[in-house]
Amino acid sequence: MNLRDTIRTIPDYPKPGIMFRDITTLLGDPRAFRRTVDELVQPYAGTKIEKVAGIEARGFILGGAVAHQLSAGFVPIRKKGKLPHTTVRIAYSLEYGVDEMEIHEDAILKGERVILVDDLIATGGTATAAAQLLRNLGAEVVAACFIVDLPELGGAAKLRDMGVPVRTLVEFE
Ligand code: PRP
Ligand code: ADE
Repeated sequence: MNLRDTIRTIPDYPKPGIMFRDITTLLGDPRAFRRTVDELVQPYAGTKIEKVAGIEARGFILGGAVAHQLSAGFVPIRKKGKLPHTTVRIAYSLEYGVDEMEIHEDAILKGERVILVDDLIATGGTATAAAQLLRNLGAEVVAACFIVDLPELGGAAKLRDMGVPVRTLVEFE
């Protein structure tokens, strides 16, 4: 089984010109979902990772599974206004818009080793902002993991330029 073949493409969603890489078909395939989580965590198995931070919304699905596999805690990074306790916030731009995300101010202890997880990296606006948010709380961002990389949009390169190692499993043009 080829993981790439389990991902569905929806042309012109959510806007004309966007080729939307839909991972719900991968998640719905039991073998593909297990393989994805196993491959994402493989370099970090047996290493000390205190927290996995997942980016809303699709990063929650994967991040929970990755945290369980690594016996780490899970921390949500959410769109603004969704978290109940005191937060720190950061603005970011997307392939198709702008938004703000936030994290609970006490979600990470200074020096904790954290892995950032999302389904896909495109321009890197979301993930670089999330990595910065984690660093602002004192996290050591050990790696950022994604199923899909869109390398032409340059997001993974931006994260690496910040000094964050990047792991991705599948590329689309
Ligand atoms: C998608 C995806 C990433 C982000 C990647 O989320 O899940 O979080 O876009 O794009 P970027 O690298 O250009 O920042 P989206 O903003 O669509 O939110 P959703 O998961 O809540 O649907
Ligand atoms: N997030 C940003 N760009 C995307 C794309 N092309 N497919 C799925 N999610 C995305």
